This record gives sequence, structure tokens and C-alpha cells, in this order.
Amino acid sequence: MSVINDPLTPSVKCYLAALVAMFTALFGEPAEAHENVQEEPLVQAAPELKPAEEGRSGEAMFKQACASCHSLEYDSNRDLLTLWDRKGPSLVSAGSKYRDEWLQDWLQEPVAIRPAGYLAYRRTLVGDDGDKISTAFKDKHLAVDESKARLLTDFLAQQQLPLNPYPAFNGTPVIKGAIHFNKILGCGSCHRVGDKGGVTGPGFDSASSRYQAQWLTSYMQDPYYWDTVPMPKLRVRSDQLVAMTDYLMLDRDSALFGEESAAQVSMREKLYRDKPPQDVSSIEGRAEKIYQIACSQCHGISGDGLGLNSSFLAQEPRNHTSAKEMKKLSNEHLFKVIKFGGVSVDKSTLMPAWGALIKDKDIEALVAYLRQLSQTENPKGRR
Ligand code: HEC
Ligand code: HEC
Ligand code: HEC
Repeated sequence: MSVINDPLTPSVKCYLAALVAMFTALFGEPAEAHENVQEEPLVQAAPELKPAEEGRSGEAMFKQACASCHSLEYDSNRDLLTLWDRKGPSLVSAGSKYRDEWLQDWLQEPVAIRPAGYLAYRRTLVGDDGDKISTAFKDKHLAVDESKARLLTDFLAQQQLPLNPYPAFNGTPVIKGAIHFNKILGCGSCHRVGDKGGVTGPGFDSASSRYQAQWLTSYMQDPYYWDTVPMPKLRVRSDQLVAMTDYLMLDRDSALFGEESAAQVSMREKLYRDKPPQDVSSIEGRAEKIYQIACSQCHGISGDGLGLNSSFLAQEPRNHTSAKEMKKLSNEHLFKVIKFGGVSVDKSTLMPAWGALIKDKDIEALVAYLRQLSQTENPKGRR
């Protein structure tokens, strides 16, 4: 039974999964979950789609079966906390983003796109040896039959936004997309390609069949134009955009739709390390929520530096609960590193710059939250 890239074919596996989900529902998560863990697997709540009737439109189907989780409104409110209660990604630009053939197939046989689920902090348990994905996370996306998939695809294909312009690059980039993606820009901290990379962002193994290439380039240039997402916005040069588009659009599909690779299996085993998670004492408020949405991906739900992506990073994220480490850093330094990234204080580029997503006032609140987590005060005489 798997979470990652499990094809949705009705098989013994699915019945087993359903059984386990039932047990979990009846007897609870074997280990304690922190308060944000979703108790109900999302997709169980999905309504049954009525049989396709003569003349029934894709739009009507969408309203009935999909709109409860997927918005078609352009989200111009950039506050990160608008994500807090969201059930699924926005599909307002589905027609600019997906290839029709992919969409039609995926709706019939959905496989997980985000290895750790949508908004991973909701599925994360805190263990002694790091965060892991809740074993209650077994939800499968609802599947529809071919005729419905066709109508829904026709409808979603009309949901388009004009491409935001990105700097033109003429010629063939001489740089290597993989290196810029993983090492220089640190995208691999959260995104998985093949057996490398973090798990909180969408995996890119099926990118070549899933995306329209222009959309991909445009998204990498300015993700917040498309949606509010828990991803840093990085300054990406035009040659990097082209090289990374080429890299991500390489055909890797067979790995996704075929047998699970050994690497996928071992990654999942790593995520499922069965150590008793501990409860985290919760602190109410905005800063904590922002921390959960954006920072816990690497720094961990409890701030101990052992987030879901941490074991895939070349540089360990700072342990924000360590008084020993945190008392050396001034508030001014913390503000700067959060706003402008690790590079601004001669630390690793794997600590992204969040200034484009998180407002100064919230960064100040995050600094205060870090003081709370580490039980330290602003060190005097340090900058
Ligand atoms: C109960 C909530 C729920 C319902 C109902 C639902 N979805 Fe989803 N959908 C999700 C979640 C969560 C994801 C993210 C899955 C992942 O990352 O693997 C998703 C992913 C998708 C994606 C891929 C989007 C992306 O950016 O990764 C498409 C397309 C999609 N859904 C279409 C539909 C359609 C069409 C319907 C109605 C027939 C529908 N969904 C019903 C929750 C839902
Ligand atoms: C801190 C983790 C993180 C980093 C670093 C990061 N991303 Fe993301 N990215 C995400 C998350 C999370 C999403 C999914 C948002 C959603 O739909 O919920 C995402 C979405 C995306 C998408 C859209 C995929 C889709 O199907 O909707 C692309 C493309 C992308 N990122 C590319 C990049 C590139 C290129 C970089 C480096 C310049 C990068 N990301 C760095 C976390 C990250
Ligand atoms: C993609 C993974 C990732 C995400 C997401 C992330 N960080 Fe970091 N962070 C790191 C890494 C790696 C380091 C260690 C850098 C080093 O020591 O060179 C770090 C270091 C730090 C430091 C210590 C800087 C220093 O000078 O020692 C602070 C403070 C920090 N992060 C805050 C945050 C906050 C707040 C967020 C959310 C808004 C966040 N981080 C999100 C990876 C991440």
C-alpha cells in the first residue's frame, strides 16, 4: 500500500488500503498527531459523481464533484494564510498548465503528484528522529470514467490565464539544468526528480507529459502570479529558466506509471520510519501558522531542524529549538536571513529568501516565534 505514485487501479492494494484506513479511523492514529494533522483523509469526503447524463456539461460536473476542493477563482489575495483551510490546489489556470491528454488520463487513474500530499504540514508527525508523514495519509484522489474525464477535461481546458511574460532567451543554454535546479537554486530541496530531492512540492517525474512547457517556464519565473504557494520566489535568470525547463521536461514517465523504482520504495520507507512521534505544545497565532506552512517543510513541525525535506538536503536546516545555537543570532540577523535568504548572511543557499512571499510584519512575528521556540532573547551587542 503506498502513498507515492500508486496507480489508482482498483486492486487488492486499494481494498487493503481502505481496510487500514477504516482501522485508523476506528482506533485512531497509532502515534500521536500534532494538532494540524487532518483526521479525515481528504478524498474520502469526495462526493460521488452522478452518472453522465445526456447533455450534462463538464462545468456542471465540476461544480458538483470538484468545486468543494478546487477553486476556479483567481486568487489575488496573496496572504499565505489563505492556504490554511484549502482542500486542493487551485485549478483556475488548469488550461494553461496541463496537457489535455495527461489530464484526461490522470482523472481516470490519478497518481499522487506531491509525495507528501497537498500542504504537507497537515500530514506530518513529529518523531524523535525527525518528521514523517502520518500513516493515516492514505487518501486517493477520486477517479472518474472515460466519458466524464473527457467532459471535465474539455471544461478545465478553458480555464486559462494569459502567460506572464518571462525574459526571452535566444539560443541553447550552456549551463546544466540539473545543477541549477538542485545545487545553485536549491529547488531540489522540496522537489523530487527521479530518486533525488525533497518531498513537499510536486514531484516532476511526469512533467513532460503533464505540463505545457511555456507554462512551466512562466511558473518558475513568477509562481505567485499563478497561485499563492508555500514556495520561495527566486530570481531565476533566463538561461536558467530554459535549462531547467529542458531538464524537467525530459521524458521520465515510464518510471511513474510502471513499477515503483527501488529509490521510491526506499524514500517511502524513510518517510515511514516507525518511531513514536511526540506531541508538540502549540502556540496560537499567525507566526506559528506561517511557520507550519512554509518553514516546517525543512525545519520541522516542532522546529527541531528535522523536517520532511531535511534528510534530502546537503546542509542541515538550523535547529530552531536549540538555545545554544539560537542565542548567537540577533533579531536583526534572523530578520535578514528570513527575508533575503542564507546567502545574505554567508550561509547556504538552501535557506531560501522569503521576502517576496512573507511581509515584513510577519517576518518580525516569525523572529519572535523563533525566540519562543528556542527560549532565547535577542543577544545584546550582536548584529
Ligand atoms: C476532497 C477534495 C478533492 C475533490 C472533491 C477533488 N479533488 Fe482534485 N485534488 C485534491 C488534492 C488534495 C489534490 C492534490 C493531489 C496531489 O498532490 O497528489 C488534487 C489534485 C487535482 C489535480 C492536479 C492538480 C495539481 O496541481 O496537482 C487535478 C487536475 C484535479 N485534482 C482535478 C479534480 C477534478 C476534475 C475533480 C472532480 C471530479 C476533483 N479534482 C475533485 C483534492 C480534491
Ligand atoms: C520550500 C520548498 C520549495 C522550494 C525551495 C521550491 N519549491 Fe517549487 N513548489 C513548492 C511547493 C510546496 C509547491 C506546490 C504548491 C501547491 O500547489 O500547493 C511548488 C510548486 C512548484 C511548481 C508547480 C508545480 C505544479 O504542478 O503545480 C513548479 C514548476 C515549481 N514549484 C518549481 C520550482 C523551482 C524551479 C524551484 C527553484 C527555483 C522551486 N520550485 C523551489 C515548494 C518549493
Ligand atoms: C528548503 C528548505 C528550507 C526552508 C523551507 C526554510 N529553511 Fe531556514 N534554513 C535552511 C537551511 C538548509 C539552513 C542552514 C543554513 C546554513 O547553516 O548554512 C537554514 C537556516 C535558517 C536560519 C538560521 C540562519 C543562520 O544564520 O544560522 C533561520 C533563522 C531560518 N533558516 C529560518 C527559516 C524560516 C523562518 C523559514 C520559513 C519562512 C525557513 N527558514 C524555511 C533551509 C530551509
